[in-house]
Amino acid sequence: MRTRLLKEGVKELSYEIREIVKKAMTLEKLGLDIFWENIGDPIEKNTQIPQWMKQIIGELVQENKSYGYSPSKGILSTREFLAKRTNELGGAQISAEDILFFNGLGDAISTFYFLLDQTARVIGPSPAYSTHSSAEAAHAHARPITYRLDPENSWYPDLEDMYNRIKYNPSVAGILIINPDNPTGMVYPHEILQAIVKIAKEFKLFILSDEIYNKITYNGARAYALAEFIDDVPGIAMKGISKEFPWPGSRCGWMEFYNRDKDPEFGGLCSALDNAKMIEVCSTTLPQMAIPRIMEDERYDAHREDLNNKIGRRSKIIAEILGEVPELTFNETFGAFYNTIIFKAGVLNDVQSLEIEDDNIRELVEEWTEGVRPDYRFVYYLLGATGICVVPISSFCSDLQGFRVTLLEEKEDVLREKFSLLRDAIRAYIKSST
Ligand SMILES: Cc1ncc(COP(=O)(O)O)c(C=O)c1O
Repeated sequence: MRTRLLKEGVKELSYEIREIVKKAMTLEKLGLDIFWENIGDPIEKNTQIPQWMKQIIGELVQENKSYGYSPSKGILSTREFLAKRTNELGGAQISAEDILFFNGLGDAISTFYFLLDQTARVIGPSPAYSTHSSAEAAHAHARPITYRLDPENSWYPDLEDMYNRIKYNPSVAGILIINPDNPTGMVYPHEILQAIVKIAKEFKLFILSDEIYNKITYNGARAYALAEFIDDVPGIAMKGISKEFPWPGSRCGWMEFYNRDKDPEFGGLCSALDNAKMIEVCSTTLPQMAIPRIMEDERYDAHREDLNNKIGRRSKIIAEILGEVPELTFNETFGAFYNTIIFKAGVLNDVQSLEIEDDNIRELVEEWTEGVRPDYRFVYYLLGATGICVVPISSFCSDLQGFRVTLLEEKEDVLREKFSLLRDAIRAYIKSST
């Protein structure tokens, strides 16, 4: 090529959540049974969509309109419905004009960073959900700027770290929060959210709030939406139905713009997002038609509560099994459906291993683990020895060593069996070097 083709920062676009799948599939071909703990797709993990929801969608499929394009910003009546729900929270007030639909939040996230000026940085959490951190890094042609989530303090944002990184990085224009969080499963208290708003006010920043798990809380927790605490700070809430209905295959998510009239630069960015959608035509129509009908149905809240109670029970079971391993830093989760479990400093090294009987699998694992970070080494040995497929936490823009699991296994006996196997593998792995 006459010129360089790849942008600086695009190297950050690796996605271990999916990379690990390739390795697991290779081992599956060699006859290993895989227990998929890598991906947050409830449907893949056998969550059943209730018949009444399928019926609503079935009826919509019979409507000719559901096959057409929809208005660029999204169907007006659906945006009006969603604006009303947000306004009922009693905080930031919006109209249908402040809502913009996308083909899933993944699309919203990449469009957002595509339009944001290269020099304007968004500081995000570490460990980071890779779709955000990779897109931010690629837009800035640089490594992500992150603030620490503290495993010693319930995975809450380390506010001092956030403050200092913003203070000494004048290019930071916005703060990303993911609440409830992927990958830690934590739900942030109101005081922490208010403190973040205070920092945004001091440095004139916008707030980006990924709320895809807003309705997925359990064991007494409730997640505050950005609209409730944002005050007069410019901000964008990112919402969707992938996890909530759950309907990840619908590819349907949306942005809500708050206080877009309070700052001309921010208002310009919101308008550019609107315009970008116009150029693209529109987002998926059928799920937009389904949103009010499903969310307004009297069975909807009970459906979500039932799913949340199940996730809450799994959270307790996982805590019971892994919570007492002394070499781990373990936090019980209250939202979303992940947990990030950390090995304490110095626990992992580069000689530990697990016994793998099958020669072909062992050889492959030995090859994969050459020169990799300690948590990758653990994850690959765990996969080869037990078939349990988790994601190494250092792949989430983090210096910590650990792994992410999901809380999606529907069968309680299978959950207990697999997490006990995981605990025993952790013990055996740690012991193998002593
Ligand atoms: C925090 C977070 N935001 C966004 C997404 C992407 O959602 P969507 O399916 O709407 O693209 C995910 C998916 O796992 C997620 O965990």
